[in-house]
Amino acid sequence: MAWDRDVVSFAPMLPWFQNRFPLYLAPMAGVTDTIFRQLCKEQGADVVVTEFVSAEGIFRKNARTLEYLEFEECERPLGIQLFGGNPDHLAEAARMVADWKQPDFLDLNFGCPVNKVVCKNGGSSLLRDCPLLERVATAVVHAAAPCPVTAKIRIGWDRASVNAVTTARLLEQTGVQAIAVHGRTKEQGYSGEADWEVIAQVVAAVSIPVIGNGDLTSAAIVQRRREETGVAGVMLGRGAMSAPWIFREIREYLETGFVPEPKPLADQWAFIRRHCALAVARSGEEPHTIAGMRSRLMAYSRGMPAAKQLREQFSTVSTLEGLAAIAEAHLEAHAEAELAVLT
Ligand SMILES: Cc1cc2nc3c(=O)[nH]c(=O)nc-3n(C[C@H](O)[C@H](O)[C@H](O)COP(=O)(O)O)c2cc1C
Repeated sequence: MAWDRDVVSFAPMLPWFQNRFPLYLAPMAGVTDTIFRQLCKEQGADVVVTEFVSAEGIFRKNARTLEYLEFEECERPLGIQLFGGNPDHLAEAARMVADWKQPDFLDLNFGCPVNKVVCKNGGSSLLRDCPLLERVATAVVHAAAPCPVTAKIRIGWDRASVNAVTTARLLEQTGVQAIAVHGRTKEQGYSGEADWEVIAQVVAAVSIPVIGNGDLTSAAIVQRRREETGVAGVMLGRGAMSAPWIFREIREYLETGFVPEPKPLADQWAFIRRHCALAVARSGEEPHTIAGMRSRLMAYSRGMPAAKQLREQFSTVSTLEGLAAIAEAHLEAHAEAELAVLT
């Protein structure tokens, strides 16, 4: 349809790329809920994305699925990520979400490696079926308009079929306005290293912004990847899960060139305890919520002194009071050492 094409091809650049190198919080199922997104925003994330949401669940108005669409105004600019393999259902789900929630953009998941998703033609499965990927993206771009649509891909299905450049060019033609590239294949899962050379090839191949993703765990690494590849922005997953304050550190480094002081241990603990308290306040249920936060606490312990011992303690914690006791003992044991390093 000619008019639809015009709407799409003359879409203005997403505003968060104008005069800015945006730092995205990566979508992470079970991690990037509204609380964590708000905390990352406070810590300097420019753009956040929900965890992936099933287009089929939206299409069927499944109550639990619809909960994943909830967000607060302070999280904007925010994208809602959809996954699925049926172009008609995805388009309808995109129209519904754009109408109901008015997110700043919709993001299409073409990277999830989980079998439950892949075997229903969703996520990374579309990387090996370019005609279907094109139909999905075209249908969603037209259904969601004027809400912008972006996509997140992996570099390919496996090492022998790396096709990120082809996929990205196709997506650009459908009217997708930015592409995040996780530099791993589906077959790699989360192992091995992200291939930033392929990300650089995608940057060179398309005119829309490319967001680089994979193994960004420090401000210096972000700066190096930016220089090497020319990405228009970066997306952080596990690095942000362990240290959400990394967004501030990156911004400071990019703006001043100075490596910022590490966040003091006491401030890290205050942050972690606040995160858990907010989760309890939201759910209204303490032991279950704190037990559910254990994997998050494990992630926070990475980079802390005596992490192994902390992980043992976290494996049984189930109250905010219990967490406070762990924090106080840990601070008492390590704050002095930290002070000695700093002075
Ligand atoms: C626990 C977890 C859940 C994830 N869930 C999603 C998801 O829902 N949608 C998505 O596109 N990627 C998902 N990812 C992939 C991340 O967005 C990101 O691409 C990947 O972790 C690589 O970035 P990193 O090295 O910065 O972690 C998930 C990753 C993790 C670790």
